[in-house]
Amino acid sequence: MAGTFTFTIIKPGAVSNEDIGPILNMINENGFHIAAMKLIKLRTAQAKKFYAVHSERPFYNDLIEFMTSGAILVAILEKDNAVEEYRKLIGNTDPLKAEEGTIRKKFAQSMQKNAVHGSDSDENAEIEASFFFSNSERFSIFDVSDF
Ligand code: CMP
Repeated sequence: MAGTFTFTIIKPGAVSNEDIGPILNMINENGFHIAAMKLIKLRTAQAKKFYAVHSERPFYNDLIEFMTSGAILVAILEKDNAVEEYRKLIGNTDPLKAEEGTIRKKFAQSMQKNAVHGSDSDENAEIEASFFFSNSERFSIFDVSDF
């Protein structure tokens, strides 16, 4: 069965452009419930751990530098089939390939500054959500007592 939540980051470029409000509006208009949310600045060690899967990629150092360059918004979003539904809403990683009506089409500046992150599987949604949020910071509409 598909999961009911995904994890997202609104990245530094979109935060400094004052795009948090418009992006959250698109998220709400598309039927997602915000189950957890905070504005933070990643430390380098945290960013390296979060993006460890990309550590061998040529863009890794730039990615770490960018993701620690300013505030980010991290959030857990709930909806039936959330991972797939949210990936449809954010669009292609490369903004040049992002479909009309998607968050990246509207707000991404480049492949690196692509406005938002969305988990790519239910398993990663849980790993990423629990990286940033404790159980007492998560508020599920499906079961408030137990996330
Ligand atoms: P995201 O999927 O949120 O997390 C990993 C990020 O690495 C990805 O978004 C892009 O912002 C970035 N990324 C992926 N591929 C490339 C690439 N070829 N060049 C630069 N950045 C990339």
